[in-house]
Amino acid sequence: MQTHELSQRFQNYFTARGHVFVPSAPLILDDPNLLFVNAGMVPFKPYFLGEVTPLSSRVTSVQKCVRTGDIDEVGKATRYNTFFQMAGNFSFGDYFREEAITWAWDLVTTSQSDGGLGLDPNRIWVTVYEEDDEAVRLWQKIAGLPLERIQRLGMEHNFWSMGVPGPCGPCSEIFYDRGPAFGPDGGPAVDTERFLEIWNLVFMESERGAGTGKGAFPILGSLPARNIDTGMGLERTSVVLQDVPNVYETDLLRPVITKAEELIGRKYGSSHEADVLFRIIADHARSGVMLIADGVTPGNEARGYVLRRLLRRIVRSTRLLGVKEPVLGEFATVVRDMMTPSYPELAKGFQRISTIMQAEENTFLSTLTSGMKIFDMAVEESKSAGNSKLPGGKAFQLHDTYGFPIDLTLEMAAEQGLSVDEEGFRRLMKEQRDRAKADAKAKKMGHADLSAYRQVADSAGRTTFTGYTANEGEATILGLLVDGVPSPAAHEGDEVEVILDRTPFYAEGGGQLADTGRIRLETGAIIEVRDVQQPVPGVSVHEGIVKVGEVTLGANAFAQIDLVRRRAIARAHSATHLTHQALRDALGPTAAQAGSENAPGRFRFDFGSPTAVPGTVLLDVEQKINEVLARELDVRAEVMSMDEARKQGAIAEFGEKYGSEVRVVTIGDFSKELCGGTHVGNTAQLGLVKLLGESSIGSGVRRVEALVGVDAYNFLAREHTVVSQLSEIVNARPEELPERISGVLLKLKEAEREIDRFRAQKVLEAAAGLAEEAKDINGVAVVLARVSDDPSADDLRKLVLDVRSRITGRGPAVVAVFAVSNNRPLVVVATNEAARERGVKAGELVRTAAKALGGGGGGKDDVAQGGGSNPLAINEAIAQVERAVAQR
Ligand code: ALA
Repeated sequence: MQTHELSQRFQNYFTARGHVFVPSAPLILDDPNLLFVNAGMVPFKPYFLGEVTPLSSRVTSVQKCVRTGDIDEVGKATRYNTFFQMAGNFSFGDYFREEAITWAWDLVTTSQSDGGLGLDPNRIWVTVYEEDDEAVRLWQKIAGLPLERIQRLGMEHNFWSMGVPGPCGPCSEIFYDRGPAFGPDGGPAVDTERFLEIWNLVFMESERGAGTGKGAFPILGSLPARNIDTGMGLERTSVVLQDVPNVYETDLLRPVITKAEELIGRKYGSSHEADVLFRIIADHARSGVMLIADGVTPGNEARGYVLRRLLRRIVRSTRLLGVKEPVLGEFATVVRDMMTPSYPELAKGFQRISTIMQAEENTFLSTLTSGMKIFDMAVEESKSAGNSKLPGGKAFQLHDTYGFPIDLTLEMAAEQGLSVDEEGFRRLMKEQRDRAKADAKAKKMGHADLSAYRQVADSAGRTTFTGYTANEGEATILGLLVDGVPSPAAHEGDEVEVILDRTPFYAEGGGQLADTGRIRLETGAIIEVRDVQQPVPGVSVHEGIVKVGEVTLGANAFAQIDLVRRRAIARAHSATHLTHQALRDALGPTAAQAGSENAPGRFRFDFGSPTAVPGTVLLDVEQKINEVLARELDVRAEVMSMDEARKQGAIAEFGEKYGSEVRVVTIGDFSKELCGGTHVGNTAQLGLVKLLGESSIGSGVRRVEALVGVDAYNFLAREHTVVSQLSEIVNARPEELPERISGVLLKLKEAEREIDRFRAQKVLEAAAGLAEEAKDINGVAVVLARVSDDPSADDLRKLVLDVRSRITGRGPAVVAVFAVSNNRPLVVVATNEAARERGVKAGELVRTAAKALGGGGGGKDDVAQGGGSNPLAINEAIAQVERAVAQR
């Protein structure tokens, strides 16, 4: 069973049991404690904690995950992937242990023909938390598992959390026994290579505090409800279902190994050391592509560093296998082909992904050779001096000048039996960082270095947003950056970032685009604002250019937004809420929001749906929205407690984090959503909403795009003009157009067919004449001819076979007919059996002819066809075929 099919079965199983399918969140979520999404439950954290009311108390997902804690084990053990897919079913205060165990057992052991995974129940073992008697009892009752296949383990194995403060609880893991060839007997408590974990069921009941290590953290208390969080590792389960030795040889990863074999010119499976490198390549290439697809770029810190390390490990592994040329582009292509069926966004963003990967590889390759020399020399020196440690200065040099991530240096040193003076390395890194700070070379916004903005926030305070009620107002300039560098003043023409204490400018967020406008100073200076972002929460950074005069830090200013743009955005945003509600009314809560963009006069709205939304449903949705507009519903925003919002049934977005106080936007009796955006006062202001259609943008995610107000009107007016023109052309009323035009097209097709028939007939009529022209060459009857009339290749073939049948009774026969079709020369050759016995073969003659025609072709001995590019060479081709027959 392919991984894709496994994923589908999982989703089908749980949606059939009342679970709403939620599409995978991106690998990066806004959680400062978490580098990457590392489990299926991460996007649902607020629901477990009771901070937000879920759309449904039962959901299921297949989540992209990245874990790099076991990166050193990648390629060595059976089961570690840095990127993997986790299928899960979740209950938020709904069902608990019993149902979770019942369904997991049922799905795993039901036969494949009945929609299950068909695993042998006798090979399944489970572990439970040592104090969880209830789980033991349920496994006995539901699965009939004997006690010796239910193993009790401690906190470090069977108590699950994200590794950071948050929800947690005892868990029960399901293992599959791969047999004695893979390790000793004794169950997962003894060996987790032979007994492969495929599914973890977490009984999520508590909240944990900070602490390191798997069992060393305080339990802060119970969660508001008892929940279920499960995670099936798709790659590991595929190991079992596909009967392969490890995750790297499952269907979504093995093709990368095959590509590596090809590039390296070496077979996988010939030595253990080489195999580990092959597997590292496969694993890391996939992780690299998936990370870049979700917006990570290589860098020296945090996420960027992880990506850089993965990519550079691939480059080094390929080098160790003997290849010096760039390879990442090739691997990226294979990964794209494997993963696009589940993640179509890869195909769309591929150009960017591939460019980033190749650029990173080129940078590293340009220093790798010199870096390796430095490293080898350092190893040599340390060894001969009897030192077991490489100096920190060398590691720093390798990092700073040659781009070796410190972990790579550590790994390479360990391979040589050496360690590294890490403390010395870190000291040098810190010194360098301090120097960089002194240089105050803050990078441009949107990238890693946010310290300049944080500093403003810490010293001068944050920005108050006044734009819910005001379009302009006085403010003070708290922060000023010129070309990304904090500065006391800026001058005409400077690109600036301005932080104000109060602002009516809405910073891009929650799917709503930023306001634009102007900031004026008392001195007469003017800044034109093109964008507003909040790189640090609560700090609004106005980006733009100084149009007139000088701008100084601390100056008083007057900020004024472009009201026309703002109103058009507000209309789009309110329309998005209406669309969201109308879609949910039509499709059920599955149509949960997965993203949106509210721009002036238009919006797009992404939502979960396993299938395309039929055109008729979309029409209904559009009609309903427009009916709501006409009801002149008031739009109100209120700040209230999360509790109150939940009580009122406000919709919240999956994966969003909300504080205890939330803003709720209500549109009459029609819609109620948590939202920080700006809206119209009454639905009548929208005028008109036109949905432009719907498309897929990812696994289980659809997108509608729409126009609002004047933009919608302009669109319809344009369509109307086109319809009027068509009416005039085909002389029919608009409502008759579809029928009339299909009629015309049908007639046209019939006419074309008729013409084809005539042409074919005409070509075939030549057959008798051609047969008569047969001449004798060395006892072979040969027809060599050229026909006009632009025949299709098919007609030409029919003609040639017809001529052959007419002359074949006279002994050996060859027919070769040339023609020009669409300005390109064509040739078809046929021989009869007697000719073939003489060694005259159609395929060979076509090759001879096609070569003369500047092209190629070939085929069987009896009939073959070919073509070329030069119609003027037909006479020459005929002569060559004649010569070739004569020489037989
Ligand atoms: N959250 C659980 C895990 O990641 C299911 O194993």
